[in-house]
Amino acid sequence: MNSPLENINPKISATEVRDLFNVYKVGARPFLKWAGGKSQLLDKFQELYPHELKERKIGTYYEPFLGSGAVFFDIAQNYDIKSAYLYDINEELILTYTVIQRDVSKLLEFLYNYQKYYLKFDKDRRKDFYYAQRTKYNLQRFNIDYSHYSEKWIPRAAQLIFLNKTCFNGLYRVNSKGEFNTPHGDYDNPTICDEENLLAVSQVLQIAEIKVADFKQVVSDLKEEAFIYFDPPYRPISKTANFKAYSKYDFSDNEQIQLAALFRELDSKGLKLMLSNSDPKNINPDDDFFDKLYVGYNILRVPAKRMINSDSNKRGSINEIVITNYSIV
Ligand SMILES: C[S@@+](CC[C@H](N)C(=O)[O-])C[C@H]1O[C@@H](n2cnc3c(N)ncnc32)[C@H](O)[C@@H]1O
Repeated sequence: MNSPLENINPKISATEVRDLFNVYKVGARPFLKWAGGKSQLLDKFQELYPHELKERKIGTYYEPFLGSGAVFFDIAQNYDIKSAYLYDINEELILTYTVIQRDVSKLLEFLYNYQKYYLKFDKDRRKDFYYAQRTKYNLQRFNIDYSHYSEKWIPRAAQLIFLNKTCFNGLYRVNSKGEFNTPHGDYDNPTICDEENLLAVSQVLQIAEIKVADFKQVVSDLKEEAFIYFDPPYRPISKTANFKAYSKYDFSDNEQIQLAALFRELDSKGLKLMLSNSDPKNINPDDDFFDKLYVGYNILRVPAKRMINSDSNKRGSINEIVITNYSIV
């Protein structure tokens, strides 16, 4: 099939995007690699969703720690969700989702150019180009108004996707000043412009309200008969596995405790809740931090492969802890 990109006009309408999407008919999946991404756990998670979702009695979905959105894409395409509320504290991530939702065709043009030039370069030029883009990305963040959508958001989203596809391990990591600092990745043939998937993602996002928010704000948008999935930054399973650099904001045990309090508050309102985290018992069988925090709820342990670890020898199978406020049938 010829690339429909050749036909893409910057003023393409939402209907035309939908038509292109219908040509491809692919399912939407995460468009970024993200630490803690849940794609490889979806088969297991599908068994753990509330039966009201499977019986199509729940029409509203919330995901307050969106990341790459693996669970959202699964739920939005396989169940009868009419609206979704997607939040993350990372403003670059939310900017990128918003651009895909509103202006995917213009975004594709930027990505297509990145792909065309980057893939033509030899190894050394690719590396130089990557670091030049990374510097630009870090400097330009001061020129972006993250609270008001503008044309400037489109090349910004393209930069983030380019960096994610070409950086080491696809790892989004920032330092305490908020500067993206992942080194170059040296992939032979990265797909920078995945037009089929981005069109599908844009289509699926049409039901969503997407915003930069702290997880506690979920309370203000609540509807009845909703399902909420919480996937907070992992509580480190060891002192050396302390990955929590999605944003300049910290997520310590104090935030995990506040989240558990929110879980109890939402439970009392009758919402269906599911939460996952790393299982501290992987390292210390006596560590019952989550067992204590979520006492009275269903606590399951599910085998998972942890993908983000700079040492490939340490990417083994470990348990993920999953907590629900409903029984699994
Ligand atoms: C484990 S990741 C979510 C991964 C996601 N489920 C996926 O499949 O890719 C945790 C996310 O929480 C976000 N985050 C961190 N602190 C937050 C906060 N206080 N409120 C909302 N989001 C937060 C991070 O930016 C990150 O994207």
